[in-house]
Amino acid sequence: MKLLFATNNIHKVKEIRHALNRRITLVTLHDIGFEGDIPETGKTIKDNAVQKASFIHNHYRINCFADDTGLEIDALNGEPGVFSARYAGESCNFEDNIRKVLSAMRNQHNRKARFRTVIALILNDKLLTFEGVVEGMILYKKRGDSGFGYDPIFQPEGLNKTFAEISLEEKNKISHRATAIRKLSDFLAISC
Ligand code: IMP
Repeated sequence: MKLLFATNNIHKVKEIRHALNRRITLVTLHDIGFEGDIPETGKTIKDNAVQKASFIHNHYRINCFADDTGLEIDALNGEPGVFSARYAGESCNFEDNIRKVLSAMRNQHNRKARFRTVIALILNDKLLTFEGVVEGMILYKKRGDSGFGYDPIFQPEGLNKTFAEISLEEKNKISHRATAIRKLSDFLAISC
């Protein structure tokens, strides 16, 4: 079965291809010649994932899925949330985003936060969503140099290390994205 993943992020494609059943042929936006931007104007991570999958399905009428991820910090009322990628502005980088979070959290005692990934799948015209959440806390300073995004300031529950201090292999056992992917892959294994 052919299934389109609405992304051109090669790392995500690799991670998902590895998890999916061999009977599924994963194709990307590049493979179908789509070069534009997919709208992401939702108020929640789930809204955005559904919006992206629906956009591609409406245009190409193929089985497809899309993902969206965000860091939700309780003391910041769930921010950066849907704004995680560009929290510090349009052309910001990971460092800028971390600096903005650390500054906003400087006097906050409540450090609770979570990463949330939602994958929206449209299979035979039916919409399903799969969610992965990892609870943790925001540190006062960066620790570690592996990973990406907010990894150096996020310490998952039950570990004394940040996501940037563990290997990719360890992160993939517990991460929000890995959990959502596992749920998607288990569902596809019994449905396709
Ligand atoms: P996306 O929806 O997967 O593109 O993620 C949006 C933003 O969330 C990224 O640009 C990162 O800043 C952040 N993010 C997503 N996943 C992770 C992660 O595993 N670790 C740290 N930051 C992440």
